[in-house]
Amino acid sequence: MCGIVGYVGPREAYPILINGLKRLEYRGYDSSGVALARNGSIHVEKQVGKIAALEETVNGRPMDGSTGIAHTRWATHGEPNQTNAHPHSDGSGDIVLVHNGIIENYDALRKMLSGKGHEFVTETDTETIAHLIEEFYKTSDSFEEAFRKALLELKGTYGLALITKHDPGKLYAARKGSPLVVGIGEGENFVASDASAIIAHTRDVLYLEDGEISIIDSESHVTKTIQNEVIEKEIERVTFDLERIEKAGYDHFMLKEIYEQPRTVADCMRGRLITEEGVTHLGGLDQILHNVLRSRKIFVTACGTSYHAGLIGEYMLEEYCRIPVEVEYASEFRYRDPIIQDDNLVVAISQSGETADTLAALREAKRKSATVMGVVNVVGSSIARETHGGMYIHAGPEIGVASTKAFTSQVTALALLTTMIARTKTMSAEQGRQITQEMKLLPEKVEQALQCDELVRQISYEFKDKNHFLYLGRGYNFPVALEGALKLKEISYIHAEGYPAAEMKHGPIALIDEDMPVVVIATKDSTYDKIVSNIQEVKARKGRVIAVVTEGDDYLKDMVDYTIPIPSTLNLLQPIVSIVPLQLLAYHIAVMRGCNVDQPRNLAKSVTVE
Ligand code: AGP
Repeated sequence: MCGIVGYVGPREAYPILINGLKRLEYRGYDSSGVALARNGSIHVEKQVGKIAALEETVNGRPMDGSTGIAHTRWATHGEPNQTNAHPHSDGSGDIVLVHNGIIENYDALRKMLSGKGHEFVTETDTETIAHLIEEFYKTSDSFEEAFRKALLELKGTYGLALITKHDPGKLYAARKGSPLVVGIGEGENFVASDASAIIAHTRDVLYLEDGEISIIDSESHVTKTIQNEVIEKEIERVTFDLERIEKAGYDHFMLKEIYEQPRTVADCMRGRLITEEGVTHLGGLDQILHNVLRSRKIFVTACGTSYHAGLIGEYMLEEYCRIPVEVEYASEFRYRDPIIQDDNLVVAISQSGETADTLAALREAKRKSATVMGVVNVVGSSIARETHGGMYIHAGPEIGVASTKAFTSQVTALALLTTMIARTKTMSAEQGRQITQEMKLLPEKVEQALQCDELVRQISYEFKDKNHFLYLGRGYNFPVALEGALKLKEISYIHAEGYPAAEMKHGPIALIDEDMPVVVIATKDSTYDKIVSNIQEVKARKGRVIAVVTEGDDYLKDMVDYTIPIPSTLNLLQPIVSIVPLQLLAYHIAVMRGCNVDQPRNLAKSVTVE
């Protein structure tokens, strides 16, 4: 998620832009930049790091101009550095733009434009857009026509703001999949990723919808479809305060991130699913693909939630690739002198990409001549840079300390990896098509799972004062039990344990009484009958059971205290849906207990110490 701000009007644009960017820093920052139109040219300044670094860079330089755009970057393509920082321009510097989103077909467009003589200076998908508009402008009757034609060629998502010498005194804006608002002032107008960047100047906004563009000057704005049909947009009044805008109206970042999961799961798969052939394409592994495909053993190493995602990856890779997999806590892996051969693959999973133990574990694996890949959220992070290759999960900044959307995207990434490897081994095209087609339905199924929120909130009320919880699951849902327990304990401070359901007889069953809530993931799969027996064992000892069940399963309704229905999917994908009610259960109980949900006590978002 990047931050975008644009201004056109009588005032100096720079202070408005830089202060607007500071309001958007919560969306992620690894670099920032501004572009100002003045005296018939466009002046660009950009810098890696926080916005303060940009301010320091331009300190003392002339930053005049009353039309401008600015950007704070959360990298998706291209390392976080000054070159890749937005704004980006075409070859002439006459078209300058900032972008939030992922252009899936940028590589093909880049190759086509290079063939026409365009020269690129960055690794970003964004620069391609500027060159594409430049190319279309050569044969268009107006700049606006070139702008619209270029947008029609883009696959993926964008929120764009642009200024150009070809149409001075104007802001061009366009939206497809990434939010964009137009702020309406008195003799001045604005564009921003969200209203937080501009409510200091106006609370009157119009929200662009996907497929819409807006052409804005200081006195007017025209909104159209990409197909050039003018649209009358309603001007709305922003009543939220700043903090609520940053949380998109949710009470906490954690809840916002839980609700972002339909989109973040979709973003993780964007451009990577080829359902016609039942295969997946992971560009980040191109340099090491041979080693990945020939690996005879896979180690997965991570911490916390990422470790739980790794356990699910173990089940996937062994079931479909028939390669032995070992999953280990990074803190154990790094010290036990693991036996690693040079035909082994080590997968390091990390949301932050900075977890000290995971970084040390991957360094140890490299020393032992393994091929090391990452499954990472933060682009350009230490783990991402030190692995031989990898996959970014594109979940956007995860602000809540309790990891939610990163987990579902990590599991999604592991399913993509599993399918890619399996299809070079024994997985048939038909099976590959079945899995990739089911993966395409995941965002919708996660959306459906979120409908249980109110039910879960009601259940939470009954159990919020309990001191111990037990979470049970089997097969692919066993790691989900571990993850559900971790969510509860880290934000509500209630002791919770996850267990393989069958293990209950080997100890934990001694804990069961009417004061011990037991959460069971009991979705319809090959272990269903066994998990039902486990539920009966709990009920026989007066335990209270909250069961996550496959929607339509009425069999358990009379057996347990509460059922939470969720959509069914393939076993290897089920954790991506099953975890949603458990995230919400932990969230609501923590809120009811008055806990600091986004910054729980004693915890940090990234454990960069050992
Ligand atoms: C999960 O909710 C916790 N915040 C924590 O366990 C986290 O998953 C762990 O510290 C690993 O972090 P990473 O994914 O950034 O490496």
